[in-house]
Amino acid sequence: MPLPSLSSFFLGFVAGCLTILLLLAIAAVSLTRSGDIYGLGHWKLNIRTPFPSMWMNLGYWTRDDGTAIQHFDEAARNMLRQLLQAAGILSDSSSASSSPSVAVLDVGFGCGDQTVALAEIINASRRPQFRYVGLTLNATQLQEAQQRLDAALSHSTQDPPSSSSSSSTTSLNLPKASAFQLYQADAAQPTSWPPAVLSSVTSLADASFSERWLMGLDCLYHFSPSRKPIFTLAARTLHANVMAFDLILSDSASFWQTLAVRILGFVLLCPWRTFLTEREYREQLVECGYDREQVEIRDVSDHVFGGLASHLRKQDAVLRPYGISLTAYALVGRVYEWFDRTRVLKGVVVVGRVSHCGLS
Ligand SMILES: *[C@@H]1O[C@H](CO)[C@@H](O)[C@H](O)[C@H]1NC(C)=O
Ligand SMILES: *[C@@H]1O[C@H](CO)[C@@H](O)[C@H](O)[C@H]1NC(C)=O
Repeated sequence: MPLPSLSSFFLGFVAGCLTILLLLAIAAVSLTRSGDIYGLGHWKLNIRTPFPSMWMNLGYWTRDDGTAIQHFDEAARNMLRQLLQAAGILSDSSSASSSPSVAVLDVGFGCGDQTVALAEIINASRRPQFRYVGLTLNATQLQEAQQRLDAALSHSTQDPPSSSSSSSTTSLNLPKASAFQLYQADAAQPTSWPPAVLSSVTSLADASFSERWLMGLDCLYHFSPSRKPIFTLAARTLHANVMAFDLILSDSASFWQTLAVRILGFVLLCPWRTFLTEREYREQLVECGYDREQVEIRDVSDHVFGGLASHLRKQDAVLRPYGISLTAYALVGRVYEWFDRTRVLKGVVVVGRVSHCGLS
């Protein structure tokens, strides 16, 4: 078998160079011919990073005064506020003396907005004690969240009550950095946690935190094999209450609707039986250690699916002139329209309490 000769190697090298030159020429021609130079393509050069927010949840699209919310970040933050309100952490707000110490285990915390907003909304810095442990599956999200949190913390500490306080930024007033601990770990499988994560999470059981909470904001249906391990750990090891936004299967869903929802969940990498009916959900909480009498499940679908679906439509239309396509999100929007019409799945705010938790 003859080895490739030197000249054929040289020919290949020249061919490679020519290909690259050709590609560059095509790119230059397409940029000028497509009119992109005088079009909108330069949006890419104009966006500032980091982005002002990187929220991700379905959003709660109605304000307290009943008006509709138009922006994703506001709706997503409002969803967090709804959870905190349902949990009762927002009451007794004004008098600092009566506001209890709070510990939160936030599973699936996202990219940092949720962490910062939670501390802001509950006035964490004015509580006698505040501790937050967040778990995420994704290393990139962890990095983004840590950066976002660090930026907020440094902005918060250099926040003099000067005359320049008219800047558009809000006064953050966050607690010190050591109050927050973010980790990459699978919250659905506590037995897989490295010792550092486990000890950080179990430190939340400290009795000096009169309010201890597990928070799952729009993520628990992804938990595999199920929600049970984290519910059990929260109830029995941390003696923590639970607040969550979750999706629940309608009692009146037909066989085919249920099948469609299960297949949808499967495609989104959720466990096959992840969507439970309200009764099944309640039973699961009780089985894991929560007090049957104190489980609240509130249907908030009216404020979730329609708002999100119309936001996705609008966003798609607004971004299209720039050549940005929502692709998968636009399809997901159709699914939420279907949920909104049929209520096969309901969006719910869940609050569960352990029976002998100090203050409840
Ligand atoms: C946080 O502090 C502000 C200003 O003192 C107050 O108006 C608000 O009610 C407080 N909220 C909570 C949840 O403590
Ligand atoms: C984490 O997110 C990044 C960015 O979306 C993605 O590229 C990466 O595959 C994700 N990693 C895991 C383990 O899911």
